[in-house]
Amino acid sequence: MSTNFAFVSGKGGVGKTSIACAIALYHAEHGEYTLIVTTDPAPNLSDVFEQPIGHNITAINSVERLSAIEIDPDITAEEYRERYLAPLREILPPEMVAVVAEQLASPCTSEVASFDKFADFFEASGVDFIVFDTAPTGHTVRLLELPADWTRHIDRLTEGGHSCAGAVANIKESRAKYDRAVAALRNPEQTSFIFVVQPEATPIAETERTLSQLERVGVTAKELIINGIIPSEQCEVPFFRKRREMQDHYIEEIHRRIPLPSKSLYFFDEEVKGLEMIRKVGRTLNQNGQLSTSQ
Ligand SMILES: Nc1ncnc2c1ncn2[C@@H]1O[C@H](COP(=O)(O)OP(=O)(O)OP(=O)(O)O)[C@@H](O)[C@H]1O
Ligand SMILES: [Mg+2]
Repeated sequence: MSTNFAFVSGKGGVGKTSIACAIALYHAEHGEYTLIVTTDPAPNLSDVFEQPIGHNITAINSVERLSAIEIDPDITAEEYRERYLAPLREILPPEMVAVVAEQLASPCTSEVASFDKFADFFEASGVDFIVFDTAPTGHTVRLLELPADWTRHIDRLTEGGHSCAGAVANIKESRAKYDRAVAALRNPEQTSFIFVVQPEATPIAETERTLSQLERVGVTAKELIINGIIPSEQCEVPFFRKRREMQDHYIEEIHRRIPLPSKSLYFFDEEVKGLEMIRKVGRTLNQNGQLSTSQ
């Protein structure tokens, strides 16, 4: 059995977490063992699912087949360093362990540790579908660019005795795992990139930029979700009518500038929090590709 993956990306605050949760719940409730992972250093899956989650895989209450994890970058870096240091403590004097520990203390190691943790999900067993709720776009692209950077720089770093030396040695050991993760990321049959955008100038510009950066690392996006559209029936008040006219202008612009299949999500009269609301978003997104506010 192979696992499928979805990445939900977009500018800060556009609705990534809400939509990632909705996609995950929808898949779990349609029979797939599903995991939602957030790589956002300021995660809020716990708030949306209204239960503690944290750095360990946690079952979501009252939903079969759905678990979640909020990856903590500091714990990830610490766990990664410990994995290499623990066996050394058995065989080396403390001064030598301290030298290796210093090599592994660089920000470079923290980046590698994040990617290593991320790559582990591509080796997961017993899970049909993994949804990644990502941090605002720059972070995701950086994560995906890392393996390309390594390929370019690995030899130079090793030769130069650079402060990344500790991390580079470990990368070489795990190279096959990273290559498998990158291959899965680039396989559109296995991995979908979904972009959430609001019909406003800056989220559109940022989405366009990120899409071209992703293309450079060999990844093509699957679809766009245009979120936060003001329902027409609410546009009797001039304030909302004017805003909706602005949105219509940007929706046209989105279709012109970003040629991806798209779905629209209206602005609900409640925040997306708790299973009922998350379910409502999932149902809406999966109904003929469009939603109506009357659900
Ligand atoms: N269609 C919608 N209708 C009503 N509220 C929404 C909708 N989409 C998102 N929200 C609300 O907007 C806020 C921001 O959404 P969310 O946290 O999903 O965005 P995000 O892109 O994950 O933000 P960040 O970049 O900070 O992680 C939340 O309070 C959420 O409940
Ligand atoms: Mg979020």
